[in-house]
Amino acid sequence: MALVTPGMKLGLGTGSTAVVFVHRLAERVKSEGFALRCASTSKATAELAVSLGLSIESLDELGWLDLTIDGADEVDPALNLIKGGGAAHLREKIVATASDRMVVIADRSKVVAQLGRFKLPVEVIPFGWEATRILIERGLEGLGLGGRPVVRRERDGQPVITDEGNLILDLALEVITDAPALANMLSSIAGVVEHGLFLNICTKAIIGRSDGSVDVLTTGDAA
Ligand code: A5P
Repeated sequence: MALVTPGMKLGLGTGSTAVVFVHRLAERVKSEGFALRCASTSKATAELAVSLGLSIESLDELGWLDLTIDGADEVDPALNLIKGGGAAHLREKIVATASDRMVVIADRSKVVAQLGRFKLPVEVIPFGWEATRILIERGLEGLGLGGRPVVRRERDGQPVITDEGNLILDLALEVITDAPALANMLSSIAGVVEHGLFLNICTKAIIGRSDGSVDVLTTGDAA
């Protein structure tokens, strides 16, 4: 919370950890009465923030952010991430990369030696999504990852629809040995909007322990 200072332009993440953060942020803003300009990474977070008295502006109104604070599904030792468990990684990546710094908040369960156990979310355009899925499978084969399931995400028997009206495909990879090659392959497919690999975007991770203490992990680029 000390990362947030008065007058900042702040990006608010999505997910259960971000929900806790937004509550604490709103309490602090209320008690200290300082100005903050926030952009949200999802409709859900925007609604929560507004309900707690924080004002939300569009990223276009804010232009560029000082800091984005968000959760993650996996964090590796270089602070590369998997995100998108909440289907929000497209907006999350747009907001994080429009910020001077992205800081992740997570618990120890998210820290991994190597990315990939968490199914990698890929946001795809609904038009021709099955062809996109086949192209992803072929691309995975080319990377030595053939046979890994690529499954459209559903909830209550219905496809999950993102805030941008797209679908999510989840890639059960188990281990990602060459994340940049995977990211490039996915980005080269026309129907792919964005994948959940956040490479070289996060520079600091605040990892909470069950006793309330935190570990702070940084990259050489951390401010
Ligand atoms: C949303 O799409 C995700 O990227 C979340 O930030 C991520 O899933 C972390 O969520 P939790 O804090 O709920 O684990």
